[in-house]
Amino acid sequence: MSQCPFSFARPSRRGFLAAAGGLVAGSGAMLGGAHATSADDGKDPGAPPAAESFWGAHQGGIISPAQGHTYFAAFDLVTGKRDDVVKLLRAWTEAAARLSRGQPAAPIGQDLSQAAGDSGEALDLPSARLTVTFGFAATLFTKDGKDRYGLASRRPEALIDMPRFNGEQLVPERSGGDLSVQACADDPQVVFHAVRQLARMAYGVAELRWTQTGFAGDPAKGTPRNLMGFRDGTQQPGIPVKGAATPPGPAGRDAAVWAGAEGPAWMQGGSYMVVRKIRIALEHWDRTEVDFQEEVIGRHKYSGAPLGKQNEFDALDLEAVDKDGNPLIPDTAHVRLATAASNDGAQILRRAYQYNDGTNLTAERWPPWRQGLEYDAGLLFICYQRDPRAGFVKIFDPMSKMDALNQFSTHVSSGLFACPAGVTQGGFVGQGLFETA
Ligand code: HEM
Repeated sequence: MSQCPFSFARPSRRGFLAAAGGLVAGSGAMLGGAHATSADDGKDPGAPPAAESFWGAHQGGIISPAQGHTYFAAFDLVTGKRDDVVKLLRAWTEAAARLSRGQPAAPIGQDLSQAAGDSGEALDLPSARLTVTFGFAATLFTKDGKDRYGLASRRPEALIDMPRFNGEQLVPERSGGDLSVQACADDPQVVFHAVRQLARMAYGVAELRWTQTGFAGDPAKGTPRNLMGFRDGTQQPGIPVKGAATPPGPAGRDAAVWAGAEGPAWMQGGSYMVVRKIRIALEHWDRTEVDFQEEVIGRHKYSGAPLGKQNEFDALDLEAVDKDGNPLIPDTAHVRLATAASNDGAQILRRAYQYNDGTNLTAERWPPWRQGLEYDAGLLFICYQRDPRAGFVKIFDPMSKMDALNQFSTHVSSGLFACPAGVTQGGFVGQGLFETA
């Protein structure tokens, strides 16, 4: 069996407790570009770094190499005071930086008659490449038509009210929120721990509104497969594709992902995150012929190649027809509708996870009146882009009406968050927004 890519020496929180201030200076750029990474002892130069530095030009968790687990949380602010929000963001920044280093959220005191600065369940665990990504929703700026915290005039134009999409069945209590926190790491306990610490620090200022866990396959084994059994994440900005508005390579990826001078300074180098919890009718999918599944997606299931091609990274040929003159990639295929050439060049960086929330009882109201459990599972779709109007909304609006995948998928949660630029040590996330307002 091949070695797990994350099995090289990993810094543990216990180690950090012993060695005070053990932050290793960031070095490797890896895929993460300007989001600096800090390897521990760098024993395996080919392996991903053991720890992701929180500090950098961009927030981590956006273009950082994808980790195996996520815990997403949206918070409602329950304070009327702007200072409370600033204090919380300062405290969250400090804690996230510590957690990313594999340290407890706050130093653990010796006084056992006090509540500890950290709940402790990750004390012996490595940092597991934890990243914590923060975002601000439109409701941080205005709520119920009223200015909130004196920020109304600072709301970026790109932070739109999301339009309603065909077929969505959003659950209001599991959508929206004022602030978002996404923890990603290679350990499910580490991501839960990170969000839990931030939530407890927020008591009285912000409350959890909705949360979602997610998991993903090991990228060392190729592009991970989603619960439908297809490779998901093949085509991303930067990988050459016909019709893209941006050039191939890292410059193209950056142009698609990072907000620029068109918006406020605090968002330059930030990105807009769209999160959609998409339930998939797995029972229905599992009874569907594989060749039909391939027509739904527009790619071959096992190789991941576009229909009519051999290899996963072969280009989509949207013009190709079969012997009867029908398009090889059907008009309603997911990739045809999603690709840049069909959307005036629009591209988004997808960073999706699978979710499994167990099962629910279902009772059909039609013959044969089947009763039983059905999966509550699907895709925690997360994408980043420079502007959601030219990204997610542009691509998903026609898709929500025509995609053959809609027969199997239902969007049940939604959020749009402006994730500000990265933070330099000593600063706090969103500082530019609050200090210039
Ligand atoms: C249950 C929901 C979904 C599933 C199972 C799914 C699955 C897939 C698969 C298997 C691919 C082909 C491989 C790849 O390039 O990654 C793909 C491509 C893609 N999907 Fe989805 N997807 C879902 C929802 C969405 C949504 C909501 C969007 C939003 C706009 C989206 C945008 C894209 C894009 C942009 C591509 C790349 C197209 C290209 O240029 O070839 N997907 N998806």
